[in-house]
Amino acid sequence: MLMTALLLIAAQPPLSDRIASLPVIEEMPNPFLFQDGRTVNDSADWPERRTEILDLVLRYEYGKLPPAPGNVRAEDIVENDDHIALRLRMGPGNGFAVRTRVYLPETDDAPHPVVVRFGLDGNRAKQITDRGYAYVCFEHRELDPDTQGYDVPGPAQAAYPDYDWGALAVWAWGASCVLDYLETVPEIDIARSVITGHSRTGKAALLAGALDERFAIVVPNGSGCGGAAAFRGAEDGVETLKLITMEARFKSWLHADLAAFANDVQRLPFDQHFMRALIAPRVVLNTDALGDTWANPPGTQKAWLAAQPVFDFLDVGDRNLCHFREGGHDQLPEDMDVLLDVADWHFRDQPLMSKFSTVPVPI
Ligand code: GCU
Repeated sequence: MLMTALLLIAAQPPLSDRIASLPVIEEMPNPFLFQDGRTVNDSADWPERRTEILDLVLRYEYGKLPPAPGNVRAEDIVENDDHIALRLRMGPGNGFAVRTRVYLPETDDAPHPVVVRFGLDGNRAKQITDRGYAYVCFEHRELDPDTQGYDVPGPAQAAYPDYDWGALAVWAWGASCVLDYLETVPEIDIARSVITGHSRTGKAALLAGALDERFAIVVPNGSGCGGAAAFRGAEDGVETLKLITMEARFKSWLHADLAAFANDVQRLPFDQHFMRALIAPRVVLNTDALGDTWANPPGTQKAWLAAQPVFDFLDVGDRNLCHFREGGHDQLPEDMDVLLDVADWHFRDQPLMSKFSTVPVPI
């Protein structure tokens, strides 16, 4: 048995050769084209293609994740003035925990819709609860530390040695564990849940939303490379696949094999519009800034436009949303206002208040 496995490994050509045999796709890959050349003809074909897309992005970009632990439980619960602090314990043998905070609105119409965000950061809480939403944030780095230039396997990777997930996937898995817990909180309605994060955690938010269909609205903010921005066609001065996967930079966020495409982006069998396609027919909204050059605003626009045919095909053309404001790399109150406007529109049937007419490249 072991011998067969060793022979199989030995028989595999090196990854760079296997990548060289993948077809060159100059333009954004067609989300409706199966790997074997078949096409998606009607909506009944979509689930199979969606599964294939998910396999592709996990295989080459983020790594495979373990299933939900099924044992998330709250401990060390402390009631503070404006929030409840707790630790969510999970994993094999309930071996690790993340600090989490729950802020509830004062309105008496519970259960409340909820905004879940990466990072233990109460700064945005009031703006969110004032609009009648619960706000829940968690310390994702307690699942896997955020490192640059080296990798330290965190408690989640150590507990699941059979999975090749990078840090972004660990953090995304953590967001689903938070949702597992919120399902048990009577004041919160997870059927109306939003997942968001900024920059590196914007990438994790996009992945969490792609993976976990319980998130009704997915809002990557300033997520750029490995997030909402296309890899193909990245211009000088923006973060590229080659740059992000360099040994000295953020390789540990992603699957190690992604680096093999550094000089061969056109052989990648997908691009980041596939991440949005995974979210359809739910709502995806990227909030970005025109001056955030490194995060590649034109590339985000490109992936947004390339995903639109999937939303149209599934008859939800208005759920693929892209917002740009003036300014730089941040998740500002005005970004959060757009998120909340979209949530009011989707969850509460209110007219969509934000304007969506500014794009980096005139259409
Ligand atoms: C770096 C990195 C980006 C990331 C950003 C952040 O700039 O290159 O990919 O989004 O850090 O998380 O702030």
